[in-house]
Parts: sequence; structure tokens; C-alpha cells
Amino acid sequence: MQTNQTIAASERSAPIRARGTGDSGARREQAKLSLVDLTKQYSAGTDPAVDKLNMEIESGHLVALLGPSGCGKTTTLRMVAGLMEPTSGSILIDGADITSTPVHKRGMGMVFQSYALFPHMNVLDNVSFGLKMRKVDREQQRKRALEALAMVKLEHLAKRRVKELSGGQQQRIALARALVVEPTLLLLDEPLSNLDAKLRESMRTEIRMLQQRSRATTLFVTHDQDEALDMADRIAVMNGGLIEQFGAPRDIYRRPRTRFVADFIGRANLLDVAVEAELAPADHGEKLYRIAAPSFGSGGAVGRPGLEGTDTTLVLRPHNLRVRRADDAEEANSLRGTVVSMTYTGDAVGYRVTTTQGDFVAEVTSSSSDLPSAGDHVQLSWDPADAYLLPHEEATGR
Ligand SMILES: Nc1ncnc2c1ncn2[C@@H]1O[C@H](COP(=O)(O)OP(=O)(O)O)[C@@H](O)[C@H]1O
Ligand SMILES: [Mg+2]
Repeated sequence: MQTNQTIAASERSAPIRARGTGDSGARREQAKLSLVDLTKQYSAGTDPAVDKLNMEIESGHLVALLGPSGCGKTTTLRMVAGLMEPTSGSILIDGADITSTPVHKRGMGMVFQSYALFPHMNVLDNVSFGLKMRKVDREQQRKRALEALAMVKLEHLAKRRVKELSGGQQQRIALARALVVEPTLLLLDEPLSNLDAKLRESMRTEIRMLQQRSRATTLFVTHDQDEALDMADRIAVMNGGLIEQFGAPRDIYRRPRTRFVADFIGRANLLDVAVEAELAPADHGEKLYRIAAPSFGSGGAVGRPGLEGTDTTLVLRPHNLRVRRADDAEEANSLRGTVVSMTYTGDAVGYRVTTTQGDFVAEVTSSSSDLPSAGDHVQLSWDPADAYLLPHEEATGR
């Protein structure tokens, strides 16, 4: 099995169009990737690792496959790469079926978790490998490999042997090696997982810039929600072989469709509430409702039309909660509790507050005056516009 290495197309054939010859700065053709009912069942009688996945990836977009370990991200990527045959379903590029196209004819650049460079070769030879396989002439090979190295800011290490490089440098070489062939599709499987926190963050920006410059349609696998929110044009949140939600990062964060998504993308406080009445129209076609829960008198929240009289889940993001010492004043849109812990994280203060509805997490700016501390009785409050109602039938998932 061909794993853990960059696979460079040695030639292109239909349906993947060849890049313009000669000028490596020329715009290459782009590609829209479609997954249709893509399924992988590793053995009979077991649940599919990937279950009838449907996804359209716009040309030039970076899409993050995000989900917990074992949800089917790598399996999906390997099928797209052609390293693994789907049990059923198909993969299309610009509408043409490539499900049976061999790996080396798919025009893809790949970087896997362990980037396995060729240790006996120097950096330049590693990067130009794909071009050599494609029989690009030697002078062009050298020129383009140096350009790719410049993109990852490592041209000064061209003659260095790979084993003399740090993990972060090797990661970037692997990226250069994938980018040098100007792939139509770029497939990245947790490419930042071996880096320390700081380098990981700067590499996010770099990969994003390189991807935007090359305009390669990109599938980026990660289990890190911050990485996905930071880098992706679209995020596919996966759970148990299924896509729970596919959308723009902001939409997924602001309007999660399921409890799983609400919980997985950013932290969320979830509270069961009954929707009593519709109060007013809200932005984006949503409605403002009056809600009630055993633990608080009354309140408002927004949600899609038609929720009146139903049971829902209220989603409250930690940064949308205010925390103040409790007094006798009755306040709408609030809940009482006791501070369990208080932690400083630079500009913010994180609170864990225990309430009759379970523990809540809140994040407030540390410049706020009179911050409550552990043991204090507090009032957690929020603006109705920041309180989102998740319908229950969707909250139960599939
Ligand atoms: N070669 C394999 N044979 C059998 N089961 C596998 C194989 N590879 C992965 N799986 C199973 O398929 C599921 C999805 O795995 P994977 O795609 O690697 O998840 P992820 O990349 O999201 O962590 C897991 O339950 C995993 O144990
Ligand atoms: Mg994986």
C-alpha cells in the first residue's frame, strides 16, 4: 500500500487537464470536486467508516474535513486520492467520473500526517521528485523546485539533507513537494499535527496563503476546530462516517444544526427550553421568541421560523455570557449559579459556574471591573440576539 508520501502525478490524462506548459506562473485550470454517495465499509457486518457522503467542493476552495478521531476523515481523503477503492459511490472532477482513475493520473498533491520525505536525498531533489517523474527537463525542474522552496521560505536549505532539518522544516518541504507539480487537487491529512503550538499557528497562515496563491482545490483533514475555523472556506463536520453539517465557518459557528456540531465547534452551553411565543421578526429571516425554562423566569432567543410551542435546545457561547455578583434584582435572560473556578488566559477570564441546569462556561474580558471569584453567587446573563434555539428534531441528529 502506498502510504505516507507525496504522490506527484507523473502524467495527466483526461479528465484532468494539463497545466499550461513552460510558464510556471500561468493560471492552471481549476477543478470542482464532487463526492456522490461515497461509501467505505472495511468489512461486511460492520458500520461503514464513511456512509453515503455527499459533498460539492467549489473550485479553488479549501474545505476542512473536521471531526473526532475515527469519524472517517482519512478514509474519505484516501478514496479521493485513489489510494483506496470506495465500496460504492463516486468521485467526480468537473463532472467527470474519476472513481476508477489510477492515483498517478489524478493530478493531486498530497501531504500526510507523517510526511515521509526521502531521507537519502537533499531538499531540492525531494521537492523536484514529482517533476522528474513527469519528465520535466532538468533546468525547469530546478527552477520550479526553487520557486516552490521560496514559497515555503526554505530556498536557503536547498542543498541540506532532509535528516538535518527540524520537524517544522520537513513539514514545509513536504508542502513544497506537493505544490511544485501545481496539483489540481491538494489533499492534506492533518499536516500540522507534528508541530508545536506556535509553529502550527504560523503554518496555518502560510498554508492558506500558498493555497490561495496556487488556487488548488484543497481538502484539509483536521480534528482541530480552531484550525478549521481559521483556514477553511467551508467546513464539513463529520461524525460516525456522516457529514453533520457543511457550510461556511461563521454559519457553522453561529448556527450549528445539531448538538454535536454546537458542542464540537467552539464551546457551547446547552440548555433545554420551551418556546412560548413568537415576539418579533429577527435578522436573516429568523424570529425572536419568548422562551421559558424551569431555572429562569423568562427570556428571549432567536431561531428559525415555526418554533412556537416546541421544545428546543438553547445554545449560548461562552463569550456571549456576562457574569456579575447576584443581587435581589430579577433579571430576564439570566440564570443564577455559583462560581466553581476562575482562570486567567491573557485578555480573558474563564469562569465555570455551576447552576441547577448544569455547569456553564463563560468568558469575559479581564479588564472588566469587580470580577467575581470562586465561591461567589453570580448571575449569568445574555442578550436574546446571542441566544440561539436549536430545534429538537435536528438536535437528535440522524
Ligand atoms: N484499514 C482499515 N481497516 C479496517 N478499519 C479501518 C481501517 N482504517 C480505518 N478503519 C476504521 O474506520 C473508521 C474511520 O477511520 P479513519 O478514516 O482513519 O478516521 P479519522 O481519520 O477520522 O480518524 C475507524 O473506525 C477506523 O477504526
Ligand atoms: Mg485520520
